[in-house]
Parts: sequence; C-alpha cells; structure tokens
Amino acid sequence: MKLNSLSRFKSLKGKRVLLRVDFNIPLGTGKIGPEEMFKLQASVETVAHLSDLGARTILVSHLGRPKDCEPELSLAPVVRRFAKLLGKKVSFVDGCLEEEGDAVHKKVEKMKDGDIIALENIRFYKGEEKNDIFFARRLASLADVFVNDAFAVCHRSAASVVGVAKLLPSAAGLLLEKEVAALSKLLEKPKKPFVVLMSGMKISSKLPTLKNLLGIADKVMIAGGLGVSCYKALGYGSGLMAISDEDVRLAKLILKHKNLIIPRDVVVTTHPIGKGKVRVAAVHDIRPNEEVVDIGPETIRRYAEEIKKAKTIAWNGPVGHFETKMFSHGTLALGRLIAARSRGRAFGVAGGGETVTALLGTGMSEWMDHISTGGGAMLEFLEGKTLPGIKPLLKK
Ligand code: 3PG
Repeated sequence: MKLNSLSRFKSLKGKRVLLRVDFNIPLGTGKIGPEEMFKLQASVETVAHLSDLGARTILVSHLGRPKDCEPELSLAPVVRRFAKLLGKKVSFVDGCLEEEGDAVHKKVEKMKDGDIIALENIRFYKGEEKNDIFFARRLASLADVFVNDAFAVCHRSAASVVGVAKLLPSAAGLLLEKEVAALSKLLEKPKKPFVVLMSGMKISSKLPTLKNLLGIADKVMIAGGLGVSCYKALGYGSGLMAISDEDVRLAKLILKHKNLIIPRDVVVTTHPIGKGKVRVAAVHDIRPNEEVVDIGPETIRRYAEEIKKAKTIAWNGPVGHFETKMFSHGTLALGRLIAARSRGRAFGVAGGGETVTALLGTGMSEWMDHISTGGGAMLEFLEGKTLPGIKPLLKK
C-alpha cells in the first residue's frame, strides 16, 4: 500500500494546509489522562513539521458524537492542551463555517506563514458525517492542499476525511504514514511465527478481524468475552456473562481453526467485583455465580511461550479487568512480555483504546515498535479493508 506523502508537495511555504487530526479524546471527567495525552502527542510531529516548513495550518478534528452543537463537546480545551504539547500558539476559531464571509475564512485570510489555527468540533456541522459535497467544498475552499493525519477516523466516510481529499491535492501526514506502514507489516508477509493476542467482549464485533488474522497468523490467542463465547460453544458454563446465541454460533465457526488458542484456566469472582470470592478455575469449571475477570496462571505461561517464539506480534484488547489491580496480572504480564520482545526479537504492534491504557500502565510502552492510535480503524484495517479515508491518498 503506497500513499502520497508530504513530499508530493514541492514547497508548502505560504500554502494553506487543511490538516485532519484526531483529537477525539473523552473529556468526561474533565481530566486528560495518559491515554488521551498519547493520542494528542501523536499529532504533534506533523503539525510542528508543517509549521516549520512555513505552511499555514488549519487543524480539523471531531470530538465525541454530538447530535448538534453541544457546548460540552467544544474542542477549545483540547486545542489548548495540544498547543502546550506542541509548544506553539494555536488559535481556536469557533465561527460558523457555513455563513457567507464567515469568521473562519476571515481568520484564514489573515494567517501568516507558520501560523496554526484550529476549527471547532467538525461534527457540529450536519454535513460532516453525511460526507455532504457542499460542506466538503466549503471546507476545501479554506485551503490549497489537504493532509490527513487522522488514522483513527479513516474508517469513517466523513466530509473532512473523504470528501475534501477528493477535492484538493492530498497526502498522508507523518502519523498516518507510520500507522499504515506498521499495520501493513502485519498483513503483508509478516515475519513468522506471527502471533496475535486478541481479547474483547463479543465475537460478533471482532469477527471480520479475527477471521482475517486467523488466515495470516500462525497462532491467534484469545481471551475475555471472546474466550467465554468459546467455552459456551464447547458446552461449558459462561458464568455471569450473558453470551448471545449468535456469539455461540460464531464461536463454533472460529473454533474450527487449528491455529486458534483459547485459555485453559481463568480467574473468576463472585459479585460484586473486587469484593466477591476469587479463585482460579479450569475453563470447564466456571460456576453460574462467577464472572471471568482474567486469564489464569497456566494460560499466562502458555501464551507467554508463544509470544517468546514470535517474530511478529499483534495485540488488541486487555485479557482481563486490568483496572482492578488483582485482576490485572494477565494483561500486565503479557503486555510487559510483548513490549520486552519488541524492537529486536520481534516486531510488536499494539492498539485499541484500552490496550493503550494497559500498555502505558506497564511503563514499557516505548519499547513497542508501534502503538496504534486507532480503535475501530485499526480493527477494520486488520480485516484487510482499504479504509475510505486512505483510498483517496493511494498513489495511482
Ligand atoms: C476514535 O476515537 O476511535 C475515532 O476518533 C473515531 O471516533 P468515532 O468512533 O466516534 O467515529
């Protein structure tokens, strides 16, 4: 997969660059935690680079899933935090983009070389998610070129991702290029043995990715709800976790793959989590009043053996309730091992919101070859799809 990169533009000095970034970080608690900082930090390189080249950069991002203009989903506080990380001024423009002679266009006209401005949450506009052509034209009219650096949103056919890319000379930013290069290495001739660790609530939400990886990887090790669906499909109990008939049907399908490995033992607890009785149980011995909250020690050893043999490793999804210390052992042990094998013994990639949080918790995240900023986008990429946001950036 070859993308048009920034080098396709001869000079960006004085050029107005519309830069799609992903500043979508949950602000529920009002605090910006390590996972959120990781996402913001990932955008710094391209923005700094463009500004150093003398481009006039217009940042575009969404935040959350607003139905309309919801003031609590304003990008203003996120942009302030980003400017601190960047160490440069970023002016926030909250004028409406759709009015004649609007504040945004006026502000852009006044920009000087190297200046950076940021627009308000682009999902406040109805045309964004509909990929409305008139709205895309309005956005495109702000700039000379378009740069997409928002890998995490490349699976969305939105105006600021797909629409503008078809209207302006376009290229991938430095982050998007890195994401595509790293994730492509998993799909296109990965060094063998290639081992995948995947966890999650429902098989149905990860099935296309699982299927594709089962066709490429030597071993696919699963945990969490994915594992529990398999126990049920094998006729064992699933404890307190409700598993739909559809997930049981899908589990039966994936269990046919010889390279699928499921846990042998799990940590279970009676409710409430953190206060109930805790024990290690074989997967055929989960009682109706117990919930699976981690993988057990035998499974940790078994999965660690495969990780140690691997030359390529992909990890998505914590294997237990890692937020609770006593149920974080599986996630931290395997996370640490994956990080320790990366950058040398194996090519190691991890991604997905909670996986990033867990990895940051190990204090070893820098040891990974790549940590993806994408959640849904990473999963869809690993399905083998060409994401709609990437398509218009491909070299002809
Ligand atoms: C993400 O955080 O995964 C991206 O910004 C996409 O957000 P969305 O799922 O709301 O489209």
